[in-house]
Parts: sequence; C-alpha cells; structure tokens
Amino acid sequence: MENRSVPNIIGESLAIQRVLDQASLLADISRPVLVVGERGTGKELITHRLHYLSKRWKHPFIKLNCAALTETLLESELFGHEPGSFTGASRLHKGHFEEVGEGTLFFDEIASMSPRLQEKLLRVVEYGEFSRIGSSQTLYTEARIIGAANQDLPQLAETGHFRHDLLDRLAFDVITLPPLRSRKEDIEPLANSFGLNMAKELHRSYFPGFTSGAITELIGYPWLGNVRELKNVVERSVYHSSPERPVAKIIFDPFASPYRASPSGQQMEQASLPLQSDQGNFIDQEIRSAPDNFKEFIENIEKKILYKTLSDNQFHQRRTAESLGLSYHQFRGYLKKYQLTEKSR
Ligand SMILES: Nc1ncnc2c1ncn2[C@@H]1O[C@H](COP(=O)(O)OP(=O)(O)OP(=O)(O)O)[C@@H](O)[C@H]1O
Ligand SMILES: [Mg+2]
Repeated sequence: MENRSVPNIIGESLAIQRVLDQASLLADISRPVLVVGERGTGKELITHRLHYLSKRWKHPFIKLNCAALTETLLESELFGHEPGSFTGASRLHKGHFEEVGEGTLFFDEIASMSPRLQEKLLRVVEYGEFSRIGSSQTLYTEARIIGAANQDLPQLAETGHFRHDLLDRLAFDVITLPPLRSRKEDIEPLANSFGLNMAKELHRSYFPGFTSGAITELIGYPWLGNVRELKNVVERSVYHSSPERPVAKIIFDPFASPYRASPSGQQMEQASLPLQSDQGNFIDQEIRSAPDNFKEFIENIEKKILYKTLSDNQFHQRRTAESLGLSYHQFRGYLKKYQLTEKSR
C-alpha cells in the first residue's frame, strides 16, 4: 500500500481554494516553484503537498533552512565534498543534491542565501549540473527545487540583495499564501480543527466547539502570526477550558497577568487618569440626588472604569477586554467612543 501522506490543508475561502488548485496543477511539472507569504501562512505545508501530490512522492523530501546554516555548512550540505577538500573533511560526503535523487529539495528562507551560493544554485537550476567541493567531476541532479520566502523577493532583487537571474529561474510559478486576516472565512474551520485535535490530545471524549462570542473574537483578531498563531491560541484556550462546555474564553496572551511588569519595569498603577478635573471625583462622591445629566454621569463612570482597568492591565487591550468580560469588539467600541485608543496598545 502506498505510504503517501498528502497534508490536509484546511480552508474554505476562495483564496485558499485557488492555492490548492494551483498546487495540484504544479505538482507534476518538473520546474522550480517559489512559495511566498507572511510567516505562519502555511508555506511549508503547501510545499509538502506539492511533493506528495507529485510523482516524486516516493523519493526523499529534503528541507534546508538557508537562514539557520552558515554559508560553508550550507554549501557542503548541498554539494557534498571530497576527502581532504578542507580542514576536517576526512571522508567523502555526499550532499543533498546527490541524496535527494528525484525527490524535492526545499530551500526554506531562500532570501538568506549568500550571493556566492545563489550563483552556484543558479548553475544547478539552469543546467542540473554541480560538483562536490574539492572535485572537478560534473554530477547531475534530477531534483525538483522549491524555495520559500516571507520577504518580497522582487524588491530584494531590485535592491541587489537577491540575484535577478536566479529569481527569474526559480519563479517558473509563484504560489502566494494569503495572510489569515484576508481570508476570515477560514478562521472558524481552522479553529474547529485545531480545537478537535487538541481535545483528542487531552484524551477528551469530544470537542464541544466554541461559543459564538469566542468565534466573533477569533474572527476579529488581526492574526499577525497567521495560522501558526491561531493554532497556538486555540490549543491554549481549549487546554484551559472545561471539557464539557464550548470554549468561551480565548486566551490570546499567555503572559497576561495583573502582576506583569511594564516595559520600564514598573507597575502602571500610578498612571494618571485622563479625566478632566470637572469630571473627576464624581465616582467617589455620594449620590444624594439624581445627577443633573444622567447620560453624561454614566458615560463618565464608564470612562473612569475603562481607564482604570486599562491601567491595571498595562494598557493591553485584549487583557483589559477580558477582565471586563467584554468581547474585543465591544471593548474597541468603547475605546473609540471615549477616544482612549492612542493610550492603549
Ligand atoms: N490551511 C491550513 N490548514 C491546516 N493547518 C495549517 C494551514 N496553514 C498552516 N497550518 C499550520 O500552521 C502552522 C504553520 O504553517 P507552516 O509552517 O507551513 O507556515 P510557514 O508559512 O512555513 O511559516 P514560517 O514563515 O514561519 O516558516 C503549521 O502547524 C501548519 O500545520
Ligand atoms: Mg516555514
């Protein structure tokens, strides 16, 4: 039986469906591909899919992180070396271009590759030729090359930080993964899937899902860390929730605590209230009679409570919303109403 493991990519948005269609079309075309997008959008996942949907699936899939290896290490990992080709190279070492055979070689964070290695890679991509370090013998590779980047490669080429000719060769086609905030329809199915997996991991018999308020919060969040951040937030929230009830509390920030020190190392308790002095002390005074202006009176109370809670939470909006029992959206509405937005983060 085949041991093909095509990763399951969740998403109902048109944007992700287009990406899946593009990957299916590209899988069997033996040309380089670039996969680009913000961090955590699923670049590695889609690269696996390209490999496992292709005829190469029985051959190796080798990933190299260009940002994590020094230039010399990356070079010897890729091309291999002959014995004695440099100090410490006592035995023949076959590089990934040889080992991968007809498989896929995935260059993660390709924008970090040094100019010299970019030049060597260009030769491989162009002619399929390479040689081990310390050897003049030409070897040939059948590998498929996929590169991933979260930077704007054409712009890096414009500013001289990435070779134009290599970019042209690698960009036979480019898969662009959209950020999660631009495909909000995917948030709920992704959250349900991550929640279900977490419930299984916790040996819970079922996953009761999220409350509608929790879903609204998840959808309203900007997700700068994209799907990876969503996965972490959902897993944490499920872990903290009761097994029988739908998850109501979304824990965005695991560091949230009233005792958390502010960046300057001081607690923010002394922060002064932005209330005008004529609005100031009303909350402490006894209400002997009905206020002259009921609406203004209530608004002042709201404003004072908001500011006090913000201050208690080091002006962190999500934590403040949580401690007031408000959804993030409701809380943002109040901040806007009272123009407290620039003070908080
Ligand atoms: N559409 C999706 N369906 C299911 N899981 C997903 C999806 N997209 C991303 N993930 C999950 O989110 C996490 C991040 O994905 P991945 O590592 O592929 O992102 P990336 O773009 O390579 O990130 P980075 O730029 O930080 O390397 C992984 O756990 C991955 O399984
Ligand atoms: Mg990645």
